[in-house]
Order: sequence, then C-alpha cells, then structure tokens
Amino acid sequence: MTVDLSKFVASIQDYPEEGITFRDISPLMADGQAYRQATEQIVKFAKEKGVEMIVGPEARGFIVGCPVAYELGVGFAPARKKGKLPRETVRADYTLEYGGVESLYLHKDAVKPGQKVLITDDLLATGGTIRATIDLIEQLGGIVVGCAFIIELQDLKGREKIKDYDTLVLMEY
Ligand code: PRP
Ligand code: ADE
Repeated sequence: MTVDLSKFVASIQDYPEEGITFRDISPLMADGQAYRQATEQIVKFAKEKGVEMIVGPEARGFIVGCPVAYELGVGFAPARKKGKLPRETVRADYTLEYGGVESLYLHKDAVKPGQKVLITDDLLATGGTIRATIDLIEQLGGIVVGCAFIIELQDLKGREKIKDYDTLVLMEY
C-alpha cells in the first residue's frame, strides 16, 4: 500500500518572510511509511543511474540523501555552509529564495574524478543550491548523473538551471 506523500507536507504562509510559502517536509520524515516510500522512489532512480556516491546540501539534503546512500550501500558526502568542514575544500556561491548570498563547500576528497554522483535535497526552488552543489562536484571531476528532490516549486523555475541533468521530483507545487 502506498500513501499520498502530499498529505505529509505542511504549508506555512509568510515564513520565514512575508510572501514566502514554506513547504515543510518534517511531517513526512516523522511518518515511517511516508519517509520510507519517498526514500524507495529515490533509491529506484539512483539504481537506474548506477550511482556510486551521494552528495546532499546542508541541512535538509542530508535527511533525504543519507537513507538512500545506506540502502544503496554507497557513500554520502555533505555539502556544507561556511566554517563547517575541517579539511581542504572547494567552494561555490549562490543566492536563495529568501536571504542573501550563501556559499557551499565540499571536502576536496569527497568525490573522486569520474565518480557517478546523485545529488539529493528536499526541495528545488530557485535552483541556486543545486547549481552550487553541481559546481562543487564538477570542480572535483565528479559526474552528476542525477538530482532528486521531494518537492519542486515550479513558479521559481529552478529546473531551468539544471536542464542538462536528469531530475526526479516526487511532488510539484
Ligand atoms: C533550502 C532547501 C534547499 C534550498 C532550495 O535550504 O532545503 O536546499 O533551500 O532553494 P533554492 O532552490 O532556491 O536554492 P536552506 O538553504 O534554507 O537550508 P536548510 O536546509 O539548512 O534549512
Ligand atoms: N527553500 C527555499 N524555498 C523554500 C520554501 N518555499 N519552502 C521550504 N524550503 C525552501
């Protein structure tokens, strides 16, 4: 039996700023069946792509990516915000739907040249975060074979920034 995943997304008006509708996946994560179902859909996509490594941007990309990595038996590397990674890093800058310019970092040895990488995140909005994550992986010579999201906010047109990459989205708003 499958569940309707949209029932497990909370929509909060004017959070964190007026005019933004925040789509919160914490009810989905709190429900064992819904979390497993979302994970299994991404695992299936990853198997089709021959994924060897998963990269997820801080913080919600970890929540989506780690159970997928565990199920596939591959590694997971966190793309983190400033000041969080202790060893040598590569860096990429981006802007968010709310808030200003941000930077993401990846350890230089997180991805090997030629490795097939899947990027996971909870949500695609403007595409700034996924674009920065792709740039980090490509700086290290990794091959981005797919991007997987639980939610896409279509009005924000993030998809246009990742036209060349195979993308799985479980729910659209
Ligand atoms: C959110 C979300 C995505 C990103 C999507 O993360 O989890 O990573 O924004 O927006 P974009 O497509 O416009 O880049 P946020 O930076 O708020 O960080 P968090 O996961 O630590 O809350
Ligand atoms: N990240 C960027 N925009 C968002 C939104 N509207 N809801 C949840 N996370 C987001």
